[in-house]
Amino acid sequence: MNDTFLKACRGEKTDYTPVWLMRQAGRYLPEYQKVRSKVDFLTLCKTPELAAEVTIQPVDILKVDAAILFSDILVPVEPMGMKLEFSESKGPILYDPIRNDIAVSKLRRIKAEDDVPFVMETIKMLVKKLNVPLIGFSGAPFTLATYMIEGGSSKNFINTKKMMFQTPDLYVRLMEKITDTVINYLQAQINAGVHAIQVFDSWAGILSPVDFEKYALPYVQKIVSTFKGKVPVIYFAFNGSAMLKKVKQSDADVLGIDWRIDISDAINTLGNDVAVQGNLDPCTLFGTKDMIRDRVAGILHGAKNAKGHIFNLGHGILPETPVENAIAMVEAVHELSSSRG
Ligand code: CP3
Repeated sequence: MNDTFLKACRGEKTDYTPVWLMRQAGRYLPEYQKVRSKVDFLTLCKTPELAAEVTIQPVDILKVDAAILFSDILVPVEPMGMKLEFSESKGPILYDPIRNDIAVSKLRRIKAEDDVPFVMETIKMLVKKLNVPLIGFSGAPFTLATYMIEGGSSKNFINTKKMMFQTPDLYVRLMEKITDTVINYLQAQINAGVHAIQVFDSWAGILSPVDFEKYALPYVQKIVSTFKGKVPVIYFAFNGSAMLKKVKQSDADVLGIDWRIDISDAINTLGNDVAVQGNLDPCTLFGTKDMIRDRVAGILHGAKNAKGHIFNLGHGILPETPVENAIAMVEAVHELSSSRG
């Protein structure tokens, strides 16, 4: 197996910089569209043969150094007791959002092996087939809580912040239930064979640093400390570049960096005892191949002092992205990083 990605996660020397793309299995690929045209998104997540097929597509097409399980961060929320739907126009919808004591009490802590067996089946199929490491993942408790409290995506997250500030005990109860579920879910993925895990905190950046420290970080720390030393743990706090010192306190092996900060500045702030992942603006892939190559070179250079560097976008690849430009990006990372010598 090509273990370059895992070596970089552990901060070991690699022959070149490994690369994968967040949301690499998705709508920008005609091959994904073809599978997706036959089934809705949740059915795709719940059908191991199909989920495995679309997980492998970007590995074959882009030649990335890691695969990420095809699923969604909201998949374990359904067996917690919420009705989930993916609307083409509005994105995810969770019915009857969690706003009071009764709603929190009713939520179940899941047993992933029984409640979402299709995820573990997909993983078992994949580890037999793949020649690169497989990344398992979960939403971070805070990000999952925002979807559960708001009932979907949100602009100002008022209901989430109201619960935090007005009924802090209720908020803690909810977060503890979610954290237990996340730990159970990630452990089941590890048991099934994933080689690394990523915790997506897509909405961490809506919190002030002081609130991040109080309302989001402790739960991430609990998760990281559970898995540290078992498999590499990547923590991605999107929009977190203004609070990297606190993000580092997660103690994850690898920290995801979005594109709003120079990666060299991020590394200066973090120090060289943690690996980093990132951080090309996904929209760069709408530029010319020369420009893409130039930006790749800049990031590789900026990350040269990191303990380890995994090249990635600063957030998920966009559905409109030309596939040939994503391929050119991966080629540029491989070529430019191996000629550095
Ligand atoms: O390739 C991969 O990265 C693996 C699969 C993956 C998906 N979602 C598939 C998906 C992963 C890792 C996720 C994580 C996820 N899901 C996050 C965290 C990462 C981030 O982007 O910040 C979040 C916040 C979600 C919730 C979610 N799922 C939203 C807001 C949406 C709608 C917006 C959108 O991009 O369509 C989804 C749907 C979704 N998840 C799709 C895919 C491929 C599109 C569904 C389709 O095919 O119609």
